Amino acid sequence: MPGNSFGHSFRITTWGESHGKALGVVVDGIPAGLELSEEDIQKDLDRRRPGQSEVSTPRSESDSVEILSGVIDGITTGMPVSMMVWNKNAKSSAYDYIKNIPRPGHADFAYTEKYGIRDHRGGGRSSGRETIGRVAGGAVARKLLSQKGIEVFAHVTELGGVKAKPLSFEEIRSNVDSNVVRCADPEAAEKMLEQVNKARFEGDSIGGIVEIIATGVPAGLGEPVFGKLDADIACAMMGIGAVKGVEIGAGFECAGMKGSQMNDPIILNNGKVTPANNNAGGITGGISTGMPVICRIAVKPTPSISKSQKSVDMAEMKEIDVEIHGRHDPTIPPRMVPVAESMMALVLTDHMIRSGRIGPDSLL
Ligand SMILES: Cc1cc2nc3c(=O)[nH]c(=O)nc-3n(C[C@H](O)[C@H](O)[C@H](O)COP(=O)(O)O)c2cc1C
Repeated sequence: MPGNSFGHSFRITTWGESHGKALGVVVDGIPAGLELSEEDIQKDLDRRRPGQSEVSTPRSESDSVEILSGVIDGITTGMPVSMMVWNKNAKSSAYDYIKNIPRPGHADFAYTEKYGIRDHRGGGRSSGRETIGRVAGGAVARKLLSQKGIEVFAHVTELGGVKAKPLSFEEIRSNVDSNVVRCADPEAAEKMLEQVNKARFEGDSIGGIVEIIATGVPAGLGEPVFGKLDADIACAMMGIGAVKGVEIGAGFECAGMKGSQMNDPIILNNGKVTPANNNAGGITGGISTGMPVICRIAVKPTPSISKSQKSVDMAEMKEIDVEIHGRHDPTIPPRMVPVAESMMALVLTDHMIRSGRIGPDSLL
């Protein structure tokens, strides 16, 4: 299994490298009859784009998307939709000095061990730029979900040890894009930004936590044993570079709780049976309960840092101290927000199609 595809009935295959000619995605399983334009995709890619603030890599790319197939007169035909973005601002020679030196914390060493060759230019396929294909595919998924009243949004809840205060969904939705760290709590956002600048000044990087929320998810999505909704979400999130932990609902905190605290009571609300609380994060037994789906991911500090670290020159087979210069995100969580939203949207769309709630072949 080459591992470049994700999903079952709604499936993306991403392709391309950070410093190759272009990157993109093939999305298969989009029902015919969906109105789809490059503008629909571009607005999500613009939220992912680098070079927009001091918390992002200065690499300047417009990331303008072209739809190559599967759409006629602005309507999907049911055939694979292929989308592409040209790389325009790659400076590959900046990576020459680490051609044979794996960056600690990055994928360089493991790729070399597995393939015996790697595209060292900007990390090749293990670069954050690979997420262009996920976000473009995710934009299609979000469009399908929005027609069913499902909305996915994410925000940074912790960065460099600074935690945001708990906020309502409405506050998160309206505040998340109001600052560069994408934290919906403005006071915490300021402190987070200070941590980013401090780390950058020290030649270091910081990590954090991103919370992803899906509202309007109907009860009944997910398969009981293999293909559980929470398992698919965990797979989707762990497949993003730099994600080291995933939790659903109460997550790791549940380990210290009693059953009486963790269990969500079931009540009658206007004649409807519903959980009264959401420690389960909207999923029990691998199947959605109709409550909001809530997931949090732990994002590690950016591996490429200018502080000196130990590595090995694998051509000369000698230990050296390496400082990584060039253009890197000083912190990844703010850039992770649109990517994680996209992965959640892809999983939910796949399950909506698998369960017959969308399509599968045509919306017409
Ligand atoms: C949106 C995004 C941006 C990223 N930016 C950088 C970066 O500028 N520099 C870097 O070294 N790693 C960056 N990464 C992280 C690497 O891609 C990741 O650490 C690497 O592929 C190794 O995978 P792992 O951390 O999951 O083990 C980024 C990841 C994402 C998702």
